[in-house]
Amino acid sequence: SQTKLPESEFVYKEFQNPDRDRAMTGTFQQGFAWGAATAAYQIEGAWDEDGKGASIWDTFSHHEGNIYGNHNGDIACDSYHKIYQDVELMKQLGLTHYRFSISWPRILPDGTSKTINQAGIDYYRELIDALLEANIKPMVTLYHWDLPQALQDIGGWENDMIVVYFNQYADVCFREFGDKVKLWITFNEPSEFIKEGYETGCLAPGLKHQGTSVYRVAHNVLLSHGTAWRTYDNKYRASQKGMVGICLVCNWAIPYSNSKEDVDATERFIMFMFGWFANPIFGSGDYPEAMKQQVMMKSREQGLTSSRLPDFNEEEKSLILGTMDFLGLNYYTTKRVRHLASPTYPASLDADQDLHCTYDDDWPTSGSTWLRPVPWGFRELLRWVKNKYNNPPIYITENGFSDPNLESEGYPNLDDICRSKYIRSHINELLKAYIMDDVDIRGYMTWSLTDNFEWCDGYSSKFGLYHVDFTDPSRPRTPKTSVKTYRQIVKDNGFL
Ligand code: NOJ
Repeated sequence: SQTKLPESEFVYKEFQNPDRDRAMTGTFQQGFAWGAATAAYQIEGAWDEDGKGASIWDTFSHHEGNIYGNHNGDIACDSYHKIYQDVELMKQLGLTHYRFSISWPRILPDGTSKTINQAGIDYYRELIDALLEANIKPMVTLYHWDLPQALQDIGGWENDMIVVYFNQYADVCFREFGDKVKLWITFNEPSEFIKEGYETGCLAPGLKHQGTSVYRVAHNVLLSHGTAWRTYDNKYRASQKGMVGICLVCNWAIPYSNSKEDVDATERFIMFMFGWFANPIFGSGDYPEAMKQQVMMKSREQGLTSSRLPDFNEEEKSLILGTMDFLGLNYYTTKRVRHLASPTYPASLDADQDLHCTYDDDWPTSGSTWLRPVPWGFRELLRWVKNKYNNPPIYITENGFSDPNLESEGYPNLDDICRSKYIRSHINELLKAYIMDDVDIRGYMTWSLTDNFEWCDGYSSKFGLYHVDFTDPSRPRTPKTSVKTYRQIVKDNGFL
């Protein structure tokens, strides 16, 4: 039932938005999902307990120099031992949903279904039961970046066999937890773990491969997603009646100037972040035209006769197209995009884009260099996704803010007014998209429940609504002001 989209792709039109700076009142539909999101490696700790295998993040973070302050997730928030305490935090917020991820090596220590670690299964069962007991529905991410190290040892996502292994893993999860889990996400932000994991080397496994690597990896991720979705569809959907989606991150982007070059660069930016996965799964059924042209051009420039971007054969296309019951959308920020005529960085993906991102001076800062709060960009993005991709059902699976200037403000600063403002203004834009633009929005998950291990920033970057004292072995949680803010919105199901 997928409609083919014309490949004219992106038309940038400045949206004349009379409500840009005006807050509106109104509520979401009954049954709207209100949640918080986390990921296994960022919160669980217990990295080698009860039979868990090592993941690429254990390896990467234990290697000196990879992470700010040489921090690691060995203990993290110790959430592995704090199921009931964390569920209590969710109850205080009044959440209806909780998005967390399963650690693949915790249940399949060597990555394959040959050996199942029962203690890992039991842990997630206990968590799921505790949630349901509290009337909170689980939304489960299968892959939030912590690949079993044993699979990395045979090439990770670059090895085509990964499609088989991911499917085994997904199958075990559907079988073991699917009676109680009705919302599944195959992958979290594939564009990010692929670019940063295989090209820049900033995220695990820390590879700096050039050439075709990232494109091959993405191809395998798409095949893995499609295969796992079909496993659910064929084997489990009829009895379990759940939904399987994928989580894609997209910044909103606006051209630096009205020049054709900048407008085209803006399209490329969005396509290399979002269309790369969205188009094959729920768009044209192929990689975006803008991406195909760009990678072909860059490949030729480097003397290759064919593009580094693989082609889909017909079988692959139909395996992948239409494998989405909902879109999980992560939105954090907006960029202004400028065409770069002569990029100075080395070959491969970033260079393939020939662009440079900037911000407007009046966009506030945060604790993360890449994150400037631009609430109206959220609504623009939602309108664009709706119009381009035929109004898919959307869960906002992440949206959040990192505390700025920790040191200078005397940490812990529990009065996180910037985060409160961020949450309020972004949910308000979401409401406008829902009410005024008829975007099919099903729920909103804030990132994140607690401060946690923010990848290469370690614990220096704080995204939590609850503060965690990482110097105290018992990892106490303390509510920040934003807990009150979010709780009120959840209670009112919007803004009264
Ligand atoms: C994206 C990722 O999914 C999550 O793991 C990360 O912590 C947040 N965004 C904030 O950077």
